[in-house]
Amino acid sequence: MNAVPSHPFPRGFLWGAATASHQVEGGNSGNQWWAWEQAGHTNGKSGAACDWWDGKRWREDFDNAAAAGHNIHRFSVEWSRIEPQDGKWDGEALERYLHMLRDLRDRNIMPMVTLHHFSDPLWLTEKGGWENEAVITHFTEFTRKVVNAFKDYCTLWCTINEPNTYALLGYLTGQFPPGVRDLRRAIQVQVHMALAHAAAYRTIHGIQPHARVGYAQHYRPMVARNKWSPLDRMMRNLRDTGLNLAFPSAVQTGVMRTPFGKQAVPVVRGTQDYFGLNYYTQETVWFDLSNRAELFTHSGYPKGAELSETGFIACIPEGLRDSIRWAARMYPHTPILITENGTESHDDAYRRRYIALHLHQTALAIEEGLPVKGYIHWSLVDNFEWERGWTQRFGLWELDTATQKRTARPSAEMFAEICRANALTSDTVQRHCPEIADRIFPAEPHPTAR
Ligand code: FCB
Repeated sequence: MNAVPSHPFPRGFLWGAATASHQVEGGNSGNQWWAWEQAGHTNGKSGAACDWWDGKRWREDFDNAAAAGHNIHRFSVEWSRIEPQDGKWDGEALERYLHMLRDLRDRNIMPMVTLHHFSDPLWLTEKGGWENEAVITHFTEFTRKVVNAFKDYCTLWCTINEPNTYALLGYLTGQFPPGVRDLRRAIQVQVHMALAHAAAYRTIHGIQPHARVGYAQHYRPMVARNKWSPLDRMMRNLRDTGLNLAFPSAVQTGVMRTPFGKQAVPVVRGTQDYFGLNYYTQETVWFDLSNRAELFTHSGYPKGAELSETGFIACIPEGLRDSIRWAARMYPHTPILITENGTESHDDAYRRRYIALHLHQTALAIEEGLPVKGYIHWSLVDNFEWERGWTQRFGLWELDTATQKRTARPSAEMFAEICRANALTSDTVQRHCPEIADRIFPAEPHPTAR
């Protein structure tokens, strides 16, 4: 009998999901996102979110993750809770996070703690936030406090989530707070984030020499819409530099490449023990005279790509393998961790296809010899999606915000099968998304076929 066709993953592969404090905790009234929501800039408000804080409902979500075979969970701590005022620390908030860490340990789930995931305490915003270089000292002190408190429970750290998204959406397109549109300020913010990341990297290693520390990079392969058009190619390179290369180049060489030239940040060189890759989609880029704010670049998705329901994401799984290859070239001998990958989908059929196709590309990358050590899905449970609010559902578990009831989506079950088997099997794909089974496990040509 033939074995079931399968893409096995290496022994010890990390499987799990990610969340972020502001998106799940609820009641985070001390940060700048809360204020941004009250000012009407978001599609709905975070409110009680997934009720992790007051209702301690992380317990139910961690139970679900454990039962589904996850062995890692990535979550973030909320700076505005731990340091509600400049220099004033809240021991109860730290204790609450320790409770989460103990709950993960009791469920045999390895924690990965993110120190900064888009939200800042209001007192920091009032001092100029990440534009003021004083943030580097503030972030270092915050890091020291958290790592000293958690050091018996966590050794895998993510300093800053998607510094490029934070800087570009907050300071160039204006979709994130503070709603600024100024490329120079966006670059300044990325430079400060790189310096703060490097300081945090050293602070963590000072406390925990064996820690593994990195950050999470939002990476999108970029393709010029018309490869024969010099303008489209130029715009593609500009966008690639601003979004994809600025932070990674700083970590690789100590010189940050920006659309306005190079900026020396020598202390940033070599400050990562793994490369954290957040991959969602790939972009097509072209020249657009009307888009002055983004230096005349415009981006979209290739014609014919399968889009998620609000058009937010195009399912281009090959882009994940390209991103992994890029990371492996950029940082030889550095383990790669997929720190986010996922899609919005209410009906879940699109998500199941998306997961299977992206895990297929991950498996192919590993079969090529690339050092991918884990896959962390965004997200465990539906949560507050920033300026898009509750319009997009990224959870393996569906959340009813009125009752806080969690319901497993078929994706949760499919992903659980993969985690438990440590493999993507044709059987799982056939049952959950037969429409793409051929793309992953092409039928063997019939022996008599020519
Ligand atoms: C990423 C964010 C994460 C989530 C997903 C959909 O850019 O890091 O918080 O919103 O997008």
